[in-house]
Amino acid sequence: MKRNILCIGAGYVGGPTMAMIARQCPDRRVTVVDINEARIRAWNSDALPIYEPGLDEVVKTCRGRNLFFTTEIGRAIAEADIIFVSVNTPTKTFGAGAGAAADLQYWEKTARLIVEHATADKIVVEKSTLPVRTAAAMSRILHAGPSAVHFEVLSNPEFLAEGTAMADLARPDRVLIGGAETPSGQAAVAELVSLYAAWVPRERILTTNVWSSELSKLAANAFLAQRISSINALSALCEATEANVTEVARAIGMDARIGPRFLQAGVGFGGSCFKKDILNLVYLCETYGLTEVADYWRQVVHINDYQQKRFVAAMVRAMFNTVADKRIAVLGFAFKADTGDTRESPAIRIVRLLADEHARVVVSDPRALDNARRDLADLGDRVAFDADPYAAAIQADAVAVLTDWREYLSLDFGRIYRGMRHPSFLFDGRNFLDHRALFDLGFNVQAIGRTPLSHLDTET
Ligand code: NAD
Ligand code: UGA
Repeated sequence: MKRNILCIGAGYVGGPTMAMIARQCPDRRVTVVDINEARIRAWNSDALPIYEPGLDEVVKTCRGRNLFFTTEIGRAIAEADIIFVSVNTPTKTFGAGAGAAADLQYWEKTARLIVEHATADKIVVEKSTLPVRTAAAMSRILHAGPSAVHFEVLSNPEFLAEGTAMADLARPDRVLIGGAETPSGQAAVAELVSLYAAWVPRERILTTNVWSSELSKLAANAFLAQRISSINALSALCEATEANVTEVARAIGMDARIGPRFLQAGVGFGGSCFKKDILNLVYLCETYGLTEVADYWRQVVHINDYQQKRFVAAMVRAMFNTVADKRIAVLGFAFKADTGDTRESPAIRIVRLLADEHARVVVSDPRALDNARRDLADLGDRVAFDADPYAAAIQADAVAVLTDWREYLSLDFGRIYRGMRHPSFLFDGRNFLDHRALFDLGFNVQAIGRTPLSHLDTET
């Protein structure tokens, strides 16, 4: 008999992941629950709570057939055989480990809910990103009561990236499943392997012990973020030496041992996970007394902060050391293209630093304006919002591009330039526009890791 699947947590991971399982395994009943009623209502509506290319179509095909979204958590737990836990695990903001450790309160509450409502044996799958050895704590909570129900805890971290979630889920580089090295642990691993094998080639499904699986997730994010901080660190040196960071990235990326991806210099990494997962790794290292290892990884976050501050300092410097009362159009607020997500977006920090300098900032973004308004609510009328990038740039002194939205490549920058105050500045925080063409239009162009293109030097 095909066993019922439940996912607790209907967020960026739970929603898309379960939609993919429902599509690939039409004979499985997949239920997604959440304590957030508004979010569940949205999952059941035509306006899904998150934007991911391709997601709408899969949800529309499967919803009501074998994919269900509900707030009836207790009943759903009782009916499920395999329970994925995909709740948020943010950085702790209080008490011991504040600012570094993972806040496990949501995850712990979920474990207790499972104990309360389970009446038969279940496989519990950690989908959330968690500190190493969390599975041991989960198993202890699950087996603490008088009930004879047995829970087998597996680790199955998610590697999808936002904006490409559906493609990543359909063709993952790998699926990682960690289980206990016991007969029941291995039986549970085999069951989860067979679920994914419905669409993932068997050689891409990797099985390990639980601790390796938990640590691999933190390690993968740390490695990816480290590459970004490495190229961003070099971008500062490029600016000082007239080397071009794009050329450097290309040159090193052609070495097969290094590879070309994740070498795009910019305003730094954002998103809900890189920073929190590295800080979590740092905290774990410190907990085990590995101070040097902790310091090594902490530096990845330091360089990211430095890059954002450096970007704003360069803007102010270029604009004659003051941006007070100058209008600056920020194009792009999402932490990356193809998502409306703004969690930890570099744009948040950059807009705040510009507001501190008394600039008049106007934010534009094709998908993330609602989130931007929420993120910057405390700035009041020191920041404005306009979905239309042309309107945002009217009478602006500068345009700062902070998200690599594809549509920005085809903007009519001539029109933007004509509507701006002069001299007009363009700061490319993603290093992806045609700088020579922008310069020829009249802009003073400054990009990361490149020599500025300025009309001002020759005018005096
Ligand atoms: P999210 O905040 O979008 O979603 C989490 C959901 O869990 C929320 O809707 C919340 O209401 C719900 N929740 C919290 N406690 C609950 C409870 N007791 N019962 C029911 N629902 C509860 O988070 P997310 O971005 O989906 O991330 C979830 C986990 O996956 C995190 O550990 C994250 O690190 C990891 N992860 C995220 C991504 C990503 O791209 N966002 C990728 C890989 C891994
Ligand atoms: C990242 C990982 O790529 C996923 O594998 C992982 O599952 C996920 O975190 C997670 O655990 O949450 P995501 O944050 O959605 O995914 O997006 P990325 O494509 O990794 O981009 C992260 C940030 O780095 C973005 O702000 C992006 O603009 C920036 N970035 C990326 C660069 O600045 N340069 C690059 O070369 C690549």
